[in-house]
Amino acid sequence: MENIIVLDFGGQYSQLIARRIRELRVYSELLPYNTSVEEIKAKNPSGIIFSGSPASISSRNKNEKKLNTFEKEFNAKNAPEVLPEILKLGIPVLGICYGMQLIAHLLGGNVSGTGSNEFGKTEIDLVTSSPLFKNLKQTEICWMSHRDSVTEVPNRFKVIASTPALPIAGIENRSSRIYGIQFHPEVIHTPSGTEILKNFLFNICECTPSWTMVSIIESQISEIKNSVKDGNVICALSGGVDSTVAALLVHKAVGKKLTCIFVDHGLLRFGENEQVETTFRKNFKINFIHVKAKERFLSKLKAVDDPEEKRKIIGNEFIRVFEEQAGKIKDVEYLVQGTLYSDVIESGTGVAAKIKSHHNVGGLPADMNIKLIEPLRQLFKDEVRKLGIELGLSEEIVRRQPFPGPGLAIRIIGEVTEERLEILKMADKIVLEEIKRANLYDKIWQSFAVLPAIKSVGVMGDERTYAYPVVIRAVNSEDAMTADWVRLPYEVMERLSNRIINEVNGVNRVVYDISSKPPSTIEWE
Ligand code: XMP
Repeated sequence: MENIIVLDFGGQYSQLIARRIRELRVYSELLPYNTSVEEIKAKNPSGIIFSGSPASISSRNKNEKKLNTFEKEFNAKNAPEVLPEILKLGIPVLGICYGMQLIAHLLGGNVSGTGSNEFGKTEIDLVTSSPLFKNLKQTEICWMSHRDSVTEVPNRFKVIASTPALPIAGIENRSSRIYGIQFHPEVIHTPSGTEILKNFLFNICECTPSWTMVSIIESQISEIKNSVKDGNVICALSGGVDSTVAALLVHKAVGKKLTCIFVDHGLLRFGENEQVETTFRKNFKINFIHVKAKERFLSKLKAVDDPEEKRKIIGNEFIRVFEEQAGKIKDVEYLVQGTLYSDVIESGTGVAAKIKSHHNVGGLPADMNIKLIEPLRQLFKDEVRKLGIELGLSEEIVRRQPFPGPGLAIRIIGEVTEERLEILKMADKIVLEEIKRANLYDKIWQSFAVLPAIKSVGVMGDERTYAYPVVIRAVNSEDAMTADWVRLPYEVMERLSNRIINEVNGVNRVVYDISSKPPSTIEWE
């Protein structure tokens, strides 16, 4: 399969580059910058992209005493490099921002902090005869975000872009097919950015736009068939889009060998366990087991308030339940999980900092004796939804808002008790009802309630109350990597507040979370 490797130097837009390429129907994978040359060669990429980075090449070369605080911070990050051999493989390379500076630095050019920093929308002059800028105008708008600049191009490189403040804003060595641009083509603020990426993919790397949902289905089915020989397979089914799509894919490959196991850990939304069972049994002819394990999970979570520990406990217990079920089914060799690319990235790739251990990635026990099949591991959520449609899933399932594997446990701050679980379930039920009633469910990425571990004073029926607040969270997102809080209509907020305080015992206050991601995350834990 044709693929473009994005080497991740820790830049904030690295995943976005991979997404944009996939949108152009070429498969793209994000790998840590220190991936070995052998590993890169083995993947036989059609092209390589060096991402941006918060690090600085120039501050490494300066006298430590002369650095300002910002530069010292950069310096401490130890500007990551790749081996220059990557540039000699004969594979086309595009360096973006730090990536371009790195190319210049590795090939004998010069990079320095000239003081001509540029941030934001900038007018840029392009040499339109460059294959990278085919079909572009001589002057375009681009998105800049840099402190260092290339001040001297390497031998046999030409300047192909410049701005008033930055004489070297793009470089090329056409015969070696190595290109660099200081600006970011992957963000929407560079209106012709997609055109530039297209030029790199289709003119320079000579890719064909053939990565489609049908091709993913075919390649996954054949991969699964190759791995699963005679043994049986179980699937961790949560009823959400991801695990349902994963189950359908695996079912297509192995048929009756697959058994889906739905674990009710008692941390699901109100009425969700019955709903999942009914939907699944009605729509699919796949072996299905419903394991009721609420007491088991809650007793393990007793007195635990650390979010990472909750995730690990739930992840471990999940696997233990599956192992037990597997023991009953005989010859089970594999467990299917609906792990997504964003779970993998956020659980830490070595470059991107670890934000949280998503229970299905970082929470797996080391001594687990079952092999994993994760057919969606390379896909973003919106891609999984498209795949679901292609596999014939109903809109109702495909459009379901994401719900985290550890469930309400990570929306109850502090200890998970029966009493607090009941409060959150009832408040969350009202949130969903009102969001649906306002016709907002399909327009919102996720909307839910959170129960903090604090109480506040209120007055109800002339009596003083001392009870929990409920936090309402509603966010929009493209792929869960970034998110913005939803501007809910005031009438909806008012109804939510009235209903939750009146209908849920133990709550006397409702607040709305107005934080985006970053700097916050979608879930509270
Ligand atoms: P955060 O809170 O990291 O969430 O911004 C990003 C997306 O991931 C979901 N999420 C999880 N999903 N296991 C999951 O299966 C987890 O441990 C987990 N933590 C967060 C979250 O609901 C959002 O869609």
